[in-house]
Amino acid sequence: MALSRLDRMLSASGKYTRSQAKDLIRSGRVSVDGVCMTKPEVKCEESAMITVNGEALNFREFHYIMLNKPAGVLSATEDRKDTVALDLLPAQFQKLKLFPAGRLDKDAEGFLLLTNDGQLAHGLMSPRRHVDKVYYVRVEGEFCEKDKITLQEGVIIDGDYKTMPAKLQILDSASEAEITVQEGRFHQVKKMCLACGCRVVYLKRLSIAGVRLDPSLQTGEFRSLTEEEEAQLKREAGM
Ligand code: URA
Repeated sequence: MALSRLDRMLSASGKYTRSQAKDLIRSGRVSVDGVCMTKPEVKCEESAMITVNGEALNFREFHYIMLNKPAGVLSATEDRKDTVALDLLPAQFQKLKLFPAGRLDKDAEGFLLLTNDGQLAHGLMSPRRHVDKVYYVRVEGEFCEKDKITLQEGVIIDGDYKTMPAKLQILDSASEAEITVQEGRFHQVKKMCLACGCRVVYLKRLSIAGVRLDPSLQTGEFRSLTEEEEAQLKREAGM
């Protein structure tokens, strides 16, 4: 985790001297990941989203945001009637052309990656790259040992599509499990559970490519990825 003083990061952008940076911060005009900061010496993640007077300090071309998506919100950039994931970010993020990397159903919660890095998003979503996505599910019904083999061997969904091998880890209650998949077809996990005789009543994405949803993020909260998390995703996406 690379941390730097906030005033140093501002001056490193080339736009402000160190003393201008200090004044701006002290006067409450600088935010880090949407939180107003007033101490120049505060240490921040170098990957954080910094704004001055509401404008993004754009020394980064690409941004990577981990959102804990609440149920009821669409993983989309805009919609005429429903709230979309981007609506949950402050105004300054709206200019960055972020989009969700991969879908998460309206009724699902959890890790939604918002980025403007198309190459990374493509790498993470391509089934050919075999990038793990882990979901927690609670179901009506109970999983049994045989379901592990069923999902490992693949099930037929959407009429004629055979799913890639997936891993089922049954939790303490047989109505709860973690399922690891490497692809992301529409309602895929729900359909795979149905093939095991279980109807999903709650679904949450826990991790993408080995990067876990930060447990300190409440639903609706977000933060920038750390440098390590960003590097991990890029490695897995083949970049
Ligand atoms: N599988 C589903 O069924 N829904 C999601 O949102 C993601 C994976």
